[in-house]
Amino acid sequence: MKTLLFSIATLFFSVAQGLLTPNCDTPHDHGSTSTLQIMHINSPCSPFRPKTPLSWADTVLQMQSSDKARLQYLSSLASGRSIVPIAAVTQNPAYVVRARIGTPAQTMLVAMDTSNDAAWIPCAGCVSCSSTTFDTARSSTFKTVPCGDQRCNQVPNPSCGGTTCGFNLSYGGSTFAASLVQDTLALASDPITSYSFGCIQRATGTSLPPQGLLGLGRGPLSLLSQTPNLYHSIFSYCLPNYKSVNFSGSLKLGTKTQPKKIKCTQLLRNPRRSSLYYVNLMAIRVGGHVVKIPPSAFAFDPNTGAGTVLDSGIMFTSLVKPAYTAVRDELRRRMRNATVSSLGGFDTCYTVPIVVPTITFMFAGMNVTLPQDNFLIRSTAGTTSCLAMAAAPENVNSVVNIIGSFQQQNHRILIDEAKSRLCVSREPCS
Ligand SMILES: *[C@@H]1O[C@H](CO)[C@@H](O)[C@H](O)[C@H]1NC(C)=O
Ligand SMILES: *[C@@H]1O[C@H](CO)[C@@H](O)[C@H](O)[C@H]1NC(C)=O
Ligand SMILES: *[C@@H]1O[C@H](CO)[C@@H](O)[C@H](O)[C@H]1NC(C)=O
Ligand SMILES: *[C@@H]1O[C@H](CO)[C@@H](O)[C@H](O)[C@H]1NC(C)=O
Repeated sequence: MKTLLFSIATLFFSVAQGLLTPNCDTPHDHGSTSTLQIMHINSPCSPFRPKTPLSWADTVLQMQSSDKARLQYLSSLASGRSIVPIAAVTQNPAYVVRARIGTPAQTMLVAMDTSNDAAWIPCAGCVSCSSTTFDTARSSTFKTVPCGDQRCNQVPNPSCGGTTCGFNLSYGGSTFAASLVQDTLALASDPITSYSFGCIQRATGTSLPPQGLLGLGRGPLSLLSQTPNLYHSIFSYCLPNYKSVNFSGSLKLGTKTQPKKIKCTQLLRNPRRSSLYYVNLMAIRVGGHVVKIPPSAFAFDPNTGAGTVLDSGIMFTSLVKPAYTAVRDELRRRMRNATVSSLGGFDTCYTVPIVVPTITFMFAGMNVTLPQDNFLIRSTAGTTSCLAMAAAPENVNSVVNIIGSFQQQNHRILIDEAKSRLCVSREPCS
């Protein structure tokens, strides 16, 4: 009887929700040893999802406002300016993976960030951190990193607190003070011993991911730099849609199980910003038509930070104004001038049925043709569709194009840092 009542209640709940009950209890890591599940922070199974579900329009507006902060942050990174006065918006990267830290392991849901190097975790006793922290006292393998250690030279603004190496960092609108520590980090079933990361002791602002961050950038102290013999500087990820309940997005570390058939483009290195994944975007095609965009909109310049970066933390692709305007105008022209409306920062929305061409990013050596779901964001009821890209706002003085996670979803993005290339293939993972 009890079971029956329970089933009925569950059924009622599912029907009332109007969606299939998400299966949140499945093991969160794939059986394969070096593969982790990726979850969007707003997805139905995420502990970080909004308490009261937002309307579709509000969800979009919220994602746009965190993008604005992310954009400002990345622009300042790219140009080498130090940081960045911004309004109090949260700008957590949107995808998290499960990391187990210490011995015995403590589980944290850390944000994936391809534009940052070092990992950092809020530690027990942290002032103004979220409630989930890593309890260093309970780990038998935990060690602090002494001031004289060469790793101490790899953190930004190092300082010596007593005998322990410490550093301060700005991240979006937040700053934190951390000590540099080491412990065992287990991702899927790979234990990485003596992993160096920041142990956050004091935080300000609201921009820090609640349970820490896994830096997947390409500079010193990043995951790749610390695991050359385990992962050989290779990883790939597939980001599920933000509405996805299936959890089949994944982060694959190392050479095993990577796709063989995949198209690649060379990564470009900006010595001033060694963490960022710069690529050579050369043109954009709408349908069969290569849009007229001045080459300066794409030109790579390490001095100003100009060029194109692939980032997992921003949601909607942001193009410098001449590039965005040209793409948008071509798309509008293809819509035969159907009435255009706007939604927040999106200026090309349609409330009538439309037939949309594809959009192709043309990189050196690789064309990536996006299906509609990667550039149109549709309302739940399907009545509104918006071009899910935007022009970099003028006041940010942004010279960098950033390809965001919405455009990357349901593709496998492979970073092969050893061969200095970035590869892409279509893969449904929502
Ligand atoms: C780091 O921040 C703390 C306070 O949060 C401050 O006491 C310390 O002086 C700062 N260190 C550096 C090197 O800026
Ligand atoms: C995700 O789940 C939905 C329903 O639960 C199903 O229709 C869809 O095929 C699943 N997608 C994948 C990629 O497994
Ligand atoms: C769309 O509008 C532009 C300018 O307003 C015009 O030149 C063009 O012919 C129109 N296209 C269609 C398909 O109606
Ligand atoms: C990309 O597409 C263009 C046609 O628009 C073609 O000329 C070019 O060869 C393609 N590049 C690659 C690498 O396939």
